[in-house]
Amino acid sequence: MIEAPRRKPIANPFPAPAGKGIRKQKHSTNEIMTASQQSNPPPAPDAAVPALRLEQVGRRFGALQAVRNVTFDIARGERRGIIGPNGAGKTTLFNTICGDFPPTEGRILLFGEDISRLKPHLRARQGIGRTYQTSLLFTGLTVLENLFLAVRGAMPNRLSLLKPGAGDAALAKARDLAERVRVSNIAAEKIDTISHGQRRQVEVGMALASDPKLLMLDEPAAGLSAGERPELVKLIQDLPRDLTLILIEHDMEVALPNSDIVTVMKDGEVVVENTPDRIADDPVVQAIYLGGAH
Ligand SMILES: Nc1ncnc2c1ncn2[C@@H]1O[C@H](COP(=O)(O)OP(=O)(O)O)[C@@H](O)[C@H]1O
Ligand SMILES: [Mg+2]
Repeated sequence: MIEAPRRKPIANPFPAPAGKGIRKQKHSTNEIMTASQQSNPPPAPDAAVPALRLEQVGRRFGALQAVRNVTFDIARGERRGIIGPNGAGKTTLFNTICGDFPPTEGRILLFGEDISRLKPHLRARQGIGRTYQTSLLFTGLTVLENLFLAVRGAMPNRLSLLKPGAGDAALAKARDLAERVRVSNIAAEKIDTISHGQRRQVEVGMALASDPKLLMLDEPAAGLSAGERPELVKLIQDLPRDLTLILIEHDMEVALPNSDIVTVMKDGEVVVENTPDRIADDPVVQAIYLGGAH
């Protein structure tokens, strides 16, 4: 996938994050406790199964190894940030997880089940929802119509629409989604008349249409003005805490305060994994972000 040129680097990519989590050594995914794990009692047996497990996941495009040997667990309810320079392989990693470009190496387990070879729509049915870095909205339709189509698309059986009341139920759900992502007031507006930030909110609503257990957001704040960003951040913060979230984000001001653990990628590999406060101080991360690597 060819991406649009990146906007200019942010001036101060290392704001002090909200203090979260117990500090642990980097490169030790399994040792790191998330903020939510620390405050909870010992997990029930099945809660010990991670929401997502990546085992030596790789993705080749011809000669290009876009993702290499990625291994990590994401706990249930965890909020994971994935950061890294342009071309690091973040979106490709998302694509291996949601199935758009399945992994060429390794395994992906969703709540303990191997989904590595499943088609994208079956992964969605297993509980994965995502947004795309490039908008997929129907610009000529209204906010509510876009949400309605997403709800309909998420229905397991299209024929179920023929059942009496199914259309009404889908519409009610679309309205509910509009409420959840704070776009009810513009539900009747066409997409091409609303702001960039509002479009991003609608996209999150569409990703929620299938009631995912794992939500993946690909650079939701990209291109947003400083004025639009707080609304989106609020929306992310207000997502239910039992929803496992992966947030790819170039903007550290969005990524760090909204993550329990941050994974840093470069050249297709994971280079650092740690709590947000440690990420900000990490010399490797500073070298990547301040050393002109992006
Ligand atoms: N569908 C594809 N075909 C060929 N190369 C791809 C494809 N998708 C991504 N790539 C390449 O994989 C590398 C990682 O890209 P990407 O995952 O988009 O990085 P990021 O999201 O971190 O900016 C880049 O070199 C990119 O050009
Ligand atoms: Mg990307």
